[in-house]
This record gives sequence, C-alpha cells and structure tokens, in this order.
Amino acid sequence: MTYTSSWRSPSNIALIKYWGKHSLQLPRNPSLSFTLSACHTQMKLEVTPEASTPGLVVMYDGTPRPPFELKIKTFFSLVSDRFPWLAQASIVIDSVNTFPHGAGIASSASAMSALALCLTDIHDQLNGQDHGQDADWWCRASEVARLGSGSACRSVYPVAALWGASSGIADSSDEYAIPWGNEIAPVYHDFQDTILIVSTKEKAVSSTAGHKLMEGLAYADTRYAEAKNNLLKLCDIMRRPDALDQFITIVESEALQLHALMMSGDTPFILMEPGTISLIKEIWHYRKETGIPVCFTLDAGPNVHLLYPKEYTATILEWVKSTLTTYCAEGRYIKDHVGNGPEKV
Ligand code: PMV
Repeated sequence: MTYTSSWRSPSNIALIKYWGKHSLQLPRNPSLSFTLSACHTQMKLEVTPEASTPGLVVMYDGTPRPPFELKIKTFFSLVSDRFPWLAQASIVIDSVNTFPHGAGIASSASAMSALALCLTDIHDQLNGQDHGQDADWWCRASEVARLGSGSACRSVYPVAALWGASSGIADSSDEYAIPWGNEIAPVYHDFQDTILIVSTKEKAVSSTAGHKLMEGLAYADTRYAEAKNNLLKLCDIMRRPDALDQFITIVESEALQLHALMMSGDTPFILMEPGTISLIKEIWHYRKETGIPVCFTLDAGPNVHLLYPKEYTATILEWVKSTLTTYCAEGRYIKDHVGNGPEKV
C-alpha cells in the first residue's frame, strides 16, 4: 500500500536572526520571523512502507534531482527514531518552488518544512491517527523541520513564529518554534515584503559555514546576549500598533549585525553587493523624506527585503519601479507578504 501526503509550505524571513548553533541544530539565541506567502514550496511525498526494494527518489517538478538525495538521506538519518518506517520504505519526493530558481532566495526553510509536514502526516496515516492537526501536531512538525534546517521550524505557523528558549516567554523552546501571530498587533498581520533581487547567483556561502563562523568569534557571546535582548524588546514593540519606529530600529540593526558578524571572522564573508548598500541608502533617504515606515532586512545574501504596512503598498511599489529596480538584477523583485502558513493540498 502506498501512502501520499501533499503540503504547500512557505518561506519565512527572520526579524531577529538565528545565527550560531550547537548540537543537533539547536540555536545559540532565539529568533522571530514573519511567515511569507508567495515564496513557498509545494511537495508531494509517496511512501510505500516495507517495500521489496526500499529507496529514495527526489524529483523537482517531475524531473529527478539526485544532488538533493544526499541532503535528504542525512536528514532521514536524523529523524529515523521518530519515523522508523523510513528504513524499509520506498519513497518518492516531488517538489516545486514558486520562487524562481536562481533568484538568490534560499529554499531550505520552505522545502524542509514541507517535508516535515508530509512526514508527520504520513506517520499519522501509518498509525491510523490521521485526525487532523492540533497544537501538538504542529509542534512535532516544527521539531522535525528544525532537524532539516533550523529556520524551517518557524515556517509551520501562520503570520509569525518564535523559536528558542527565552526567559519570560511561556512554552518557548530550542527544540521547536511556537506560533506568534496572536502576540502581534494587526498592522503586522498583513505586512508586505517586497524582495529586491540584487543578485540571482546561488548563495556564495552556505548557512552551515555561516553558523560555523560564529564558533570562536570574539563577538559571539555579545551577539547572543544582544539577540536575546532584541527579541524581548521586539516582542514588546510588536504588541503595540503605534511603535513602528522602534520596530524599524531593531529590525534594521539585526540585519546589519548579521552581515557585520560575517565580516568579522578569520575567514570573513561579504555577502552584500554594491547594490545592497545602494538600496539601504535609498531606503533610509526615502523614509526620511516621506515619513513612510518602510524598512529593510537581509538574509545571508545580497537581496533586500523591503518591509512595510499594507496601506502603503501602491506608493511603495511605484517607488520600487521608478527607483529601486535600478539596483536589481534584470530589474527583478518579488511581491510577497505575511501569510497564513502551510496548507495541506
Ligand atoms: O536555517 P539555516 O541553517 O539555513 O539558517 C538560516 C539563518 C538566517 O536565514 C540567516 C537567519 C534566520 O534566522 O533565518
């Protein structure tokens, strides 16, 4: 008998950055993210347990992609105690991303969260417990996603997610993320994220190498303390509808700190491109001139995430087209926004 599960799972963008890990993908500091919508992975998993010829086939949009098989096999070995049926199963994974390949957007959060959701779902089917998803179910899926890619554990929740044990935050844990959408003011529930594609090149530095750079870095302990502090501050700020200025200060500082850390190692990385710096300056100038609460954040790459309240969408997109696309590769950008989390399809 073959069991099937299909999920659509989004990417997420961290406001407080996870950078530095230990043991099995446990974070050195807590992080907080917006769940996105347009940037997502759609995945189908087919499992035939106790197959006469167990094995794994990984496809992208119907075409075999052997390079991903090794990554997924490593992940399967990390979750084999939870899903013992994996060892003897014949498994076919087929996925597709909505965001263009080569747009410099990392797919690990959406892909690994989609895979975690499919696995958790199939596990329930195999055990005759396919009764839908309660809070505990999402928590289990988040933990599985974390083992695939740390930041993926935050993608399973709508609107926003918090990952990492934090003093004073009930149920927060290093093992899994918790939903955070109910803890933030309505203005953030439909925040926009226009992703300005500065470079379409693949990531120059893997996040594994980036996390490793934190080990032994002179500023590491200071950074972890700062991130913990920023997280608590941002949680307070985002409860209030009228504190966008303070939101902007922390979010931009977190983005720049992430890149400053990468520039501080013995083997430094500079992942910003000239266009990244030009965009940051344009954003600062525009905010000063117009008073519109628009800000940026960065992932571990050159692309700029432009964050702003929905009410400014038309004005901001005009400005994006007239000015900011000058700094984008082939004028490319992706219109995304805070979204409703994964969906079973
Ligand atoms: O999940 P990883 O191991 O790819 O790490 C992601 C780290 C950042 O994207 C740079 C920040 C974050 O919190 O998402």
